[in-house]
Amino acid sequence: MNILTVKNGKELSDVASSHILKAVKDKPDLVLGIATGGTPSGTYQQLVEKVQLHSVDLSNIKTVNLDEYVGLARNHEESYWHYLHEHLYGPLGLSPDQALIPNGLNENLEKECVRYEKAIEKVGGVDLQILGVGRNGHIGFNEPGTPLDSKTHVVELTDSTRQANARFFDDPSEVPTRAITVGISTIMKSRSILLLASGKEKSDAVSALLSGKIDPQWPVTVLNQHPDVTLVVTEDAKAEEHEHAE
Ligand code: PGA
Repeated sequence: MNILTVKNGKELSDVASSHILKAVKDKPDLVLGIATGGTPSGTYQQLVEKVQLHSVDLSNIKTVNLDEYVGLARNHEESYWHYLHEHLYGPLGLSPDQALIPNGLNENLEKECVRYEKAIEKVGGVDLQILGVGRNGHIGFNEPGTPLDSKTHVVELTDSTRQANARFFDDPSEVPTRAITVGISTIMKSRSILLLASGKEKSDAVSALLSGKIDPQWPVTVLNQHPDVTLVVTEDAKAEEHEHAE
């Protein structure tokens, strides 16, 4: 694993956005796996600025989003569909057929999961997957204990995740209880991974990862088996003195 330790979230966004930009320059038809959440938002902002500044042609890339809440209307401020169109796809000038997102409104969610998994295969799989990590070590919405061979599936969100995401909603009771997420095995098929961890509340998860062990109770640790991971981590998320609670 390639580990880049940075001072703060701003530096993380700079390093991560440059990493993505280089990947697009190296492969103009890049399939980019997108994560949502607070951590990558600064990265996307800087990516948009850099793409505009350098007039980078993105007409041949595809994006594949990792997850979506179940039951939130597309125009709901906190649906990932809405967030991504507003903050990333629109400013980057991507057309709708370039950007895949699971449909959390599909009446048949099982079918939707199968459809999404096939859609990822159809675009040739993900070249570079951006990932955040939850306080509890989740990647995408693969909560602790998710089978490591899982494909795209519906998850019940844990209380920890719902509490962490409540800050984005007007009322905590509005946080959906379920989501569709790309599975752990699907994530592991990505050809390379850019993992972002910022803030001291992520230090348990980072510490579990850096222990080098694979522990299904800390899904992020599966990345120890992936051959091409770059971790961009803030100093406080990687606090040396912090022992991973077993
Ligand atoms: P955060 O979420 O970036 O909002 O902390 C990360 C995640 O839950 O994957």
